[in-house]
Amino acid sequence: MLFGVTGDLARKKIMPAIYDLANRGLLPPGFGLVGFARREWADEDFAQEVHDSVREFARTPFREEVWRQLAQGIRFVAGDLADPQAFRTLRETVLALDAERGTLGNHAFYLSIPPGLFPTVVAQIQQAGLADSPAGAWRRVVIEKPFGHDLASAESLDQVLADVFAPDEIFRIDHYLGKETVQNILAVRFANEMFEPLWNSRYVDNIQITQAEDIGIGGRAGYYDGIGAARDVIQNHLLQLLALTAMDEPLSFDPRQVRQEKEKVLAAVTVPQDIDRHTARGQYATGWQGGVPVVGYLEEPGIPAESTTETFAAIRVDIDNRRWAGVPFYLRTGKRLGRRVTEVAVVFKRAPHLPFASTSVLELSDNALVFRIQPDEGITLRFGSKVPGVSGMEVRDVTMDFQYGDSFVDTSPEAYERLILDVLLGDPPLFPQAREVDLSWRILDPVLERWADSGRPDAYASGGWGPASAYEMIARDGRTWRRP
Ligand code: BG6
Repeated sequence: MLFGVTGDLARKKIMPAIYDLANRGLLPPGFGLVGFARREWADEDFAQEVHDSVREFARTPFREEVWRQLAQGIRFVAGDLADPQAFRTLRETVLALDAERGTLGNHAFYLSIPPGLFPTVVAQIQQAGLADSPAGAWRRVVIEKPFGHDLASAESLDQVLADVFAPDEIFRIDHYLGKETVQNILAVRFANEMFEPLWNSRYVDNIQITQAEDIGIGGRAGYYDGIGAARDVIQNHLLQLLALTAMDEPLSFDPRQVRQEKEKVLAAVTVPQDIDRHTARGQYATGWQGGVPVVGYLEEPGIPAESTTETFAAIRVDIDNRRWAGVPFYLRTGKRLGRRVTEVAVVFKRAPHLPFASTSVLELSDNALVFRIQPDEGITLRFGSKVPGVSGMEVRDVTMDFQYGDSFVDTSPEAYERLILDVLLGDPPLFPQAREVDLSWRILDPVLERWADSGRPDAYASGGWGPASAYEMIARDGRTWRRP
C-alpha cells in the first residue's frame, strides 16, 4: 500500500523502482500495488499514472509483458487520510487483492507522506484492523525521512510507531544506504587487509564527507523551508556515511551486529564546544549554473523573503574513542554548488620526513583515499610519484582510479530497488533503527539550537562552493576543503 502516490518521490523513485524490480524478475508474480490518495481516480487512472512514471523514470527498458503482469495487481483507493471509511475501503480492497492474487496476506505500508501525517495514518491503519497479521503473514511499515526535526520529536515519532508496530516491522528509509557505493565502504574496509591498519588517528589526518548538488530546491519549497540542509542531509545521509566510515568491524553482517557498531560510533561523536568557530551555514544567492542565470533561495517560489533556512551546512565533529581521537570529521552539504558530487575522502597525514629537496615536493599534497559515491562511482587513491625525465627527484601527486564501469558489467541498481526489495524480504541491515536516528539528532541538536539564535545564514553565489565562512572554519584548523 502506497500513501502519497501523487508526490514527487513516488513518481520519480518508488513506482519506477517497483517496475525495475519486476523487470529483473525479483517480484513475486502475485505482487499487488494499492495506491491511496485524495483523487477521484479509478484503478485504471492510477495504473496510467504508474505507467507514465515508469516510462519516464525507470532504469531498465520498458517491456510490455512485464508491465501487463504488474498492472493486473494495481488498485486505487480514493480518500482522505483522516477518513476512517476510506481505510475500511482500503482493507476490503487489500483483502480482495489477497484472494485474487494469492499474496499470502503479506502487507507493507509505504508512508511517502509528510511526517506530520504519520500519527494519523498509523492510527487509521490500526483502527481499520490492517495492522493485525494473520498467522504466518507479515506487516511492515516503511517511512521516509525526516524522522522528526529534533531529538524530542524523533522520540515521539518512535513512540507513535512503536504503539502499533514491533521494531522489526518498522523500516526507516535512508536511501543513501541503498546505494551500491555506500555499501562498498564496508566491503573495501573489511574484505581487505591493506586499508584497516591505516584507518586510525595514527595515519589519518582528517576525513571529509561532501554531498554537493548543483540543483536548487526545485518545487520543494513546502518541504524544504524550515528544514534546511543540516536536517535534510547531515542528520541522515552524512551521519550514516560517517558511521560506516568510522565504525569498528562488526562480528558479522547480521543486522544487529552492524547496528551495534554504528550505534557505538555515533554515540562517541561530539560537536566542538565553540559551535560558531567550527560550523558554517549559507543560503544560495543568485548566480550562474551551467551557463544559465539562476535565482537565489529567497526568490524561489514559495519561500518567504525573510527565510533563515540554510541551503548549505558544514560542521566539524570529533569521535571520542581510541581509534579517532584528534581526527576531525568535516561534513558539508549544499544546494546550487559547483557540481553534483558525493564523496568520502580519507585524508592521510604527511610522511613524517621527506628525504627530498623542499623544491622537489612543492606539488605534493596529502595522500587520500576517496570513495566516489556519485555520480562517477568508484574509488581514487592519491599519492606522490616521481615525475619522469626531469633531473633529480621531483615528486608530484598522481591518482589511481577504480571505476565501477571498468570492472563490472551491470550498472548499479537504484537505491530504491534494493531498499524496496529488502522491505519485501524483511532484510533490515540497511535501515536505520530508532536509536541511530536518535543519536544523530543528539549530535545535531546543539548546532541547530545555536543556529536558530544566529540570524541569517551567509549568502553564497550559486555555482560556487559555499560561503566564505565554510573556508574560514576549516582554515582555523590549518586545513582546506578538497575541491571535488
Ligand atoms: C534527499 C534530500 O534525501 O536526498 C534531497 O531530501 C536531496 O534534498 C537528495 O536532493 C539527494 O539524493 P541523491 O541520491 O540525489 O544524492
